[in-house]
Amino acid sequence: MSTLAIATAKEVFDLLQDDLRAIEREFSVDAVSSVAAITEISGYLRQGGGKRIRPLLLLLAAKSQGYSGHGMIRLGAVVEMVHSATLVHDDIIDAADTRRGRPSANTTWGNAKCVLAGDWLYMQAFRVALEERNFRVLDLLIGLTQQMVEGELLQMEKLGKTISVDEYNTLIYRKTACLFEVSMRLGSVLAASGDETENRMGEYGHALGMAFQIVDDVLDLTATEEVLGKPVASDLREGKATLAVIHALEHSSPEERRAIETVLTEQNFGSVTHAQILAILHRHHSVQYAMDVAFRYAETARNAVADLPDSDFKRALLWVPDFVVARDK
Ligand code: IPE
Ligand code: IPE
Ligand code: MG
Ligand code: MG
Repeated sequence: MSTLAIATAKEVFDLLQDDLRAIEREFSVDAVSSVAAITEISGYLRQGGGKRIRPLLLLLAAKSQGYSGHGMIRLGAVVEMVHSATLVHDDIIDAADTRRGRPSANTTWGNAKCVLAGDWLYMQAFRVALEERNFRVLDLLIGLTQQMVEGELLQMEKLGKTISVDEYNTLIYRKTACLFEVSMRLGSVLAASGDETENRMGEYGHALGMAFQIVDDVLDLTATEEVLGKPVASDLREGKATLAVIHALEHSSPEERRAIETVLTEQNFGSVTHAQILAILHRHHSVQYAMDVAFRYAETARNAVADLPDSDFKRALLWVPDFVVARDK
């Protein structure tokens, strides 16, 4: 594989399969509590699958810089546990009933138990991270968790309102890109490659995470629930204006603007249908606009790792941004 560009998800997963399996084992051992409800809920979250993109990034960051120790398995499980905790909380906040093509945990165990299971998972992630005996690791994880919680809160304050592109960027950085950035930084911290390389890796994760959430928001508008495995058009129903919608608001006629604002404030498609909103987005090429922004972030990510020494892991890092912008779920 060494002289050819990595072209498929299978090649990347083959490259990392032993480490990804070890991370699954680590997660399954870590997520066991003496209280059955916690073990059941975290087991359900883990077995639901998911793309495992954050541990994959952490592995690629570490391995592209020559690291091969157990820390990447441990911290790979940590970032997936943090991610799982945010998802279980997010589905409560969004009142979502589907996740990864199955009933979301809150529909089975109820909100109260799921809040507590999420809290437990956060703490367990920190406990496992502590085994690294590295303050920089804890510093990154604590900063991250605060950013993510602040992001969800800021988002709540904006529900039902039109927001600016700057406000949108702040929200998606905190919600999503920050964890991508921290996954890349943690891999670099393990490899102890110095501030400059860590910052480049962080830049990659930041840009990739921005592209990832922009695409998630586009898919929410354009995909089907069968493919996506979670509810669609839910952002509008929750009163969230995402990038394509913000673009349409800036370019639409007063009548179109009123239609979008009606959905955002009523938080349902009673007076204005999803199809009508899509037609407005279509007229102003707003989905294409959002995708173009995502493509630019993907390019920024690729540029950030251009100077890494050549390896299969670097080639995988160059491939991931394409996967993120081309994905359908
Ligand atoms: C979902 O993340 C939450 C967002 C940041 C949009 P993923 O799309 O990575 O979820 P899974 O883990 O693959 O289900
Ligand atoms: C994802 O936001 C942010 C998280 C940190 C969970 P969304 O609300 O868009 O995520 P999905 O679409 O439910 O996965
Ligand atoms: Mg959600
Ligand atoms: Mg979403």
